Amino acid sequence: MNTKQGVQGDVSMNGHPSTEKLGVLVVGFNGAVSTTYVAGLLSVRKGLSTPVGSLAELGTLPFAGSNGSATTIPIREALPLAKSENLIFGGWDIRDESLLEATRYADVLQDKDIAPIADELQALRPMPGVFDSEYVRNLRGEHVKSGESKFSLMEQIREDIRSFKLTNNLDRVVVIWCASTEVYIEQSASHQTIESFEEGMRQSDPNIAPSMLYAWAAILEGAPFLNGAPNLTVDIPAMIALATRENVLIAGKDFKTGQTMMKTVLAPMLKARMLGLNGWFSSNILGNRDGEVLDDPGSFKTKETSKLSVLDYILDTDENPELYSDIHHTVRIYYYPPRGDNKEGWDNIDLFGWMGYPMQIKVNFLCRDSILAAPIVHDLVLFADLAQRAGLGGIQEWLGFYFKSPMTTAGHKPEHDLFIQRDVLHAKLREIMQKLPQISIAHAESEVSG
Ligand SMILES: NC(=O)c1ccc[n+]([C@@H]2O[C@H](COP(=O)([O-])OP(=O)(O)OC[C@H]3O[C@@H](n4cnc5c(N)ncnc54)[C@H](O)[C@@H]3O)[C@@H](O)[C@H]2O)c1
Repeated sequence: MNTKQGVQGDVSMNGHPSTEKLGVLVVGFNGAVSTTYVAGLLSVRKGLSTPVGSLAELGTLPFAGSNGSATTIPIREALPLAKSENLIFGGWDIRDESLLEATRYADVLQDKDIAPIADELQALRPMPGVFDSEYVRNLRGEHVKSGESKFSLMEQIREDIRSFKLTNNLDRVVVIWCASTEVYIEQSASHQTIESFEEGMRQSDPNIAPSMLYAWAAILEGAPFLNGAPNLTVDIPAMIALATRENVLIAGKDFKTGQTMMKTVLAPMLKARMLGLNGWFSSNILGNRDGEVLDDPGSFKTKETSKLSVLDYILDTDENPELYSDIHHTVRIYYYPPRGDNKEGWDNIDLFGWMGYPMQIKVNFLCRDSILAAPIVHDLVLFADLAQRAGLGGIQEWLGFYFKSPMTTAGHKPEHDLFIQRDVLHAKLREIMQKLPQISIAHAESEVSG
């Protein structure tokens, strides 16, 4: 079987060939996730690393073959994704240092891995960010924009996107939020409609967060916006209406990496076997700047809300009250500097079985936060760009695979089970593949089985 066939050469979608350059604008450009992603990709380009963890680069797309057997095509060959060598990086941060300094500060990658790409990292610097210390209380903004209103700040971000495109001769840009977690806020009046949001920006309504200004600007510039943190950001009616009106893709929120990824694999197992649950205690220690920001109760509340929702959805209490009506679910994050980015998570799961007899599962995950997040950033960028080229706008539920709190369209219950999420992602990729003028699934199948 030849699995090397699929989309070959320069396949265009809606007039955009995949060989065109793609701009990637990262908010929080100098952070641990961003620098690990950019440095990693530069290393992959030089043939020095393998993009482990990326479905776009290493994954395969399953198909039902014509004779009833299943077959697969590498995703990279099935779809005209932007090529790694054609990505142009830029972004914003509130600290003015090169990506080389920022990568070293993040202390995720070793010197031996940084040295071969040091010149490229040195050449990258962030644009000044839009910052409000009321939204991230444990950081100081040193490299920030000023403007007479939030509307003016949003317009400055739009201008940044336009000039980034012009300078780099780009047609397409994706914007992704990898900046610090903002404090917990709920929807308010300004968040309701496009008009109320515009008026809110002009009045500098305190309920409009910096992340919302980036997202608004990106959508108006036709750039997909992806939210890697648990902030409210695009999860408000005004933003959804704007994205729908402009037919620009949005997705979020909060990258699903270590402990929650494990939770969304283990909880479906309990449900599948009709085992009961009394309690799930999750705690972790984390010593990077993200941990420092989450040490503030306002930012932690945003993260906690995102992490807690997962079990409620997977273990439907209404369906099985005898198994899941009285669950004690606790999530704690401790800022512990000696560990840096190397998070350690402990989960204690109190489950029960036949006749109510109690059992326990202990999980001790020694992970690396940014190492798990970087491939998620890469996949989101490539898939969002592909989907935008295929004409998909508004909320993209199928990207929920990558998020702790997947955004859904009105009335839809979010799916959290990792493997159901992966199937949904595959189904959408196959659907996009069918939109390709140059290839049909039948054609691909005949090539694959040929
Ligand atoms: N690493 C993971 O596993 C993971 C998982 C889920 C979510 N996240 C989220 O991803 C985000 C990034 O994580 P990290 O470890 O890279 O954090 P980090 O603290 O290393 O990086 C955040 C960066 O954002 C910058 N920043 C803050 N506010 C900004 C603003 N308004 N505009 C521009 N830049 C701003 C900071 O200066 C910093 O450089 C966090 O919100 C985190 O909660 C990370």
